[in-house]
Amino acid sequence: MTQTTDKDRVWIFDTTLRDGEQSPGATMTHDEKLEIAGLLDDMGVDIIEAGFPIASEGDFKAVSDIAKNARNSVICGLARANLTDIDRCWEAIQHAGRPRIHTFIGTSPLHRAIPNLTMDEMADRIHETVTHARNLCDNVQWSPMDATRTEWDYLCRVVEIAIKAGASTINIPDTVGYTAPVESAELIRRLIAEVPGAEDVIFATHCHNDLGMATANSLAAVAGGARQIECTINGLGERAGNTALEEVVMALKVRHDIMPWRTGVDTTKIMNISRRVATVSGFPVQFNKAIVGKNAFAHESGIHQDGMLKNPENFEIMRPSDVGLSDTNLVMGKHSGRAALRAKLSDLGFELGDNQLKDVFVRFKELADRKKEVYDDDLVALMRVGEDPE
Ligand code: KIV
Ligand code: ZN
Repeated sequence: MTQTTDKDRVWIFDTTLRDGEQSPGATMTHDEKLEIAGLLDDMGVDIIEAGFPIASEGDFKAVSDIAKNARNSVICGLARANLTDIDRCWEAIQHAGRPRIHTFIGTSPLHRAIPNLTMDEMADRIHETVTHARNLCDNVQWSPMDATRTEWDYLCRVVEIAIKAGASTINIPDTVGYTAPVESAELIRRLIAEVPGAEDVIFATHCHNDLGMATANSLAAVAGGARQIECTINGLGERAGNTALEEVVMALKVRHDIMPWRTGVDTTKIMNISRRVATVSGFPVQFNKAIVGKNAFAHESGIHQDGMLKNPENFEIMRPSDVGLSDTNLVMGKHSGRAALRAKLSDLGFELGDNQLKDVFVRFKELADRKKEVYDDDLVALMRVGEDPE
């Protein structure tokens, strides 16, 4: 199946090892990068952006080793719009079963001023570099960086040039997280409708999260016709990060009724890779982060715990097992009620009659007022008469 033949399929392009690693302080070692690439490949990520080979010897070696070890995923390397970068990128990825060169240049007025190129000079540069990349590799992705702040006519012009020069994926980055979802959908829809040759390539969306809209913008872009989402595990990335892989993948799964597109990701592997990326990058996941936060499947309030015990669908729209967790976490604290305490004690091997539960519940509440969370060991101690669990 080629990328353009299955219209319901959304390709997942993970850039944890490139854009994710660019977050200040998130540097990973060579072995850690290889491990994460292996996990991404295993979970069914379609394209892994393994790094920026020209950036350093270490990056080159990591991309090259990831390329040699890849099993199913396409392995992509990043290159700026110059021949040296592109050659170095090809050198690193050429041994992959399925290599891809990703080359980019900033096309907005602000970004055009950096290399100090006129619009025409930049257009020529795009033609030259995409053609060069295509002569090396038959899978080329091109990105107009800061596309969402690029003049409409110029954006159409350069996208058309890249397509004619042989790019098979056109990525439209919202580099500074500036776009809103309605604009994101409309931008892709219009590009596909108005740029000659657009129907023969895949449009990708690459969103940053500066205004907290990266996931919404990515899904809106898919509604507009994009068929590749660029994302990172835990939303790791520059500044406020990139679109979180776990969010777009689970949103497409859980709300398939209104977003009828599929990914190839095995969602049961999400939690494990999320934890590994948090550990190796040194970026902990916020407790209330969607899908992978410690509290994403945790319930403390009595009403919620009682509802969960009666039917998990009362307060959960996906099963913990869908993302690789063994179970819902009923957190015992001062908001918990009798039903949860009885269930928790039963799990720990204590079957209580009503009177006994009443008595233990009073002592449990006294303890919960003193502690943020009451752990299983605390409850076991509570069941031992006369023992102070603290
Ligand atoms: O955010 C961005 O524009 C990028 C490009 C290199 C695709 O990461
Ligand atoms: Zn980016």
